[in-house]
Amino acid sequence: MKKILALLLTATMLIVMSNNAFSVDKKKIMKYGKKLYTTNCSACHQMNGAGIPGAFPPLAKSDFIKNDEKVVFSSILLGNKGKMTVNGVDYNGVMPPVKMNNKEIAAVTTFIMNSWGNKGKVYSPKQVKKFKKSLKK
Ligand code: HEC
Repeated sequence: MKKILALLLTATMLIVMSNNAFSVDKKKIMKYGKKLYTTNCSACHQMNGAGIPGAFPPLAKSDFIKNDEKVVFSSILLGNKGKMTVNGVDYNGVMPPVKMNNKEIAAVTTFIMNSWGNKGKVYSPKQVKKFKKSLKK
């Protein structure tokens, strides 16, 4: 019985510790992502993620992203052009690709997907790397 209790206690402690490590990590990534967003995206998409209707589409609650981080990865890596409809408004603009490394792309995507009412996850540089590979096929 004592052994089981000790085991349970260790397990609980491990869970609590890993959860803490996760949230500290997330805070750091969000802070870094915000910085990257401010310098690389906010001029067009605005600091509140609302964009400018008709000119720059919103990232806040964008139905174009649809909780798919790959849309954000691809926007950064390849840019966007041509007609698109975001939250019912038509756009036909050009977004040039943004030069960023995998770590930066993961952080800015994490920031976007967890800001302004968006509810996403923490994305890793590995996921960006994998996405880049899938583009080459
Ligand atoms: C020079 C202005 C400009 C900058 C800087 C810019 N974008 Fe865009 N972005 C646009 C425009 C314009 C479109 C729409 C293109 C179209 O009409 O085809 C767009 C579309 C998008 C879309 C898809 C539509 C949507 O709103 O969901 C995403 C995602 C996106 N941008 C992410 C980013 C991210 C992330 C950054 C920064 C790393 C960034 N953009 C920087 C102008 C910009």
